[in-house]
Amino acid sequence: MSLPYRRSFVEIDLSAIAHNVRVIAEAMSPAGVIAVVKADAYGHGATAVARAAMKAGAWGLAVATTDEGLALRALPEFRDVRIIVLAPTLADEAAALQGAHLDVIVGNLPLLQHHLALARDRREPARLHIQMDTGIGRDGFRFDDLSWLEAFAPGDPSFAGLMAHFSCSDGLSESDSQFTHLQQERFEEIRRTVVAAGHRPLIHTANSGAILRHRWVAGDLVRPGMMLYGVDPAGTLDPPLPLRPVLTLKSRLGAVRWVKAGDSVSYGRTWTAQRDTLIGVVPLGYGDGFPRLFSSKGMVLVHGRRVPIRGRVCMDQFMVDLSEVPDARDGDEVVVYGRQGDERLSLEEMAAIAGTIPYELTCFLTARVPRQWHGAE
Ligand SMILES: Cc1ncc(COP(=O)(O)O)c(C=O)c1O
Repeated sequence: MSLPYRRSFVEIDLSAIAHNVRVIAEAMSPAGVIAVVKADAYGHGATAVARAAMKAGAWGLAVATTDEGLALRALPEFRDVRIIVLAPTLADEAAALQGAHLDVIVGNLPLLQHHLALARDRREPARLHIQMDTGIGRDGFRFDDLSWLEAFAPGDPSFAGLMAHFSCSDGLSESDSQFTHLQQERFEEIRRTVVAAGHRPLIHTANSGAILRHRWVAGDLVRPGMMLYGVDPAGTLDPPLPLRPVLTLKSRLGAVRWVKAGDSVSYGRTWTAQRDTLIGVVPLGYGDGFPRLFSSKGMVLVHGRRVPIRGRVCMDQFMVDLSEVPDARDGDEVVVYGRQGDERLSLEEMAAIAGTIPYELTCFLTARVPRQWHGAE
């Protein structure tokens, strides 16, 4: 889609992706880094991010769906890269997954048996990663169910990996931390049994929260998502590793004008000017993935200063109060997420204001907001 007149866009710093991959690789060495690029790399653009991550030394990539995996596999540069499909798949996707040599997570016995039978028919090992539910309560074999182990012949090359996912490794409370420990203890016991049975699958459990705060869980591979994009899932601005922010959401002001005391702004008349107020319109709204939750709560940067959002966020625009920057003009740059001058509106801070998580803010951004990638190495 060509959008030559769009005034709102996202800048993505690929050198920051490369930096973050290297920081993770160094901290978790010798574990390899699986760059999690599902959901179009959390809204950052899967192809560009995957390329930057692989160049920076990532071991492989992870996506959520079969279609996301096939789309990357179709690109010649990712022909031989390991790509893991993380979310549950159905038996009718197995042929496509194996045909494209995608690594696949398996968390129930019928699906495992289906994949193994297909691999026998194809006379080629599958790349199956057994998912154990150690407490996430989502997909996977329950931690005390090892019935699947008998499905693998000794040394079966289709048994590529053994993995689990944490439910609260990004939490900062003592009970979150204790639960992460419990999950890892459950996993360790399973790993010991699997190894004793003569298997050597790739071991991986760590997402961003675990990498940042429970580094001892490192196995053969780690699966960072949000921290690749420079964001601490715990919402702190001084994460334990020196991450660099990747995404900046920018726009430009329009319709700058004075409203009179007593005038209301936007739908529902939820904000009324107490005094004559300089108001500008930012051409970005919930149709672009800028949440309506920011109505009269969020702020943006203009001339390096924080200026508040007034009234409801509309589908295509929202209004800001420019009283503190009276020399603001139509066309001036607005930074919605990111840095302008000495000021910064981090995704962590903005997510807290909206009562959500940074993941949602980046994933929400729709195709109407063009991505501009720079800093490729
Ligand atoms: C199985 C699995 N591993 C790793 C990740 C990456 O998580 P994070 O973005 O918190 O690092 C996810 C994301 O939800 C996931 O589902």
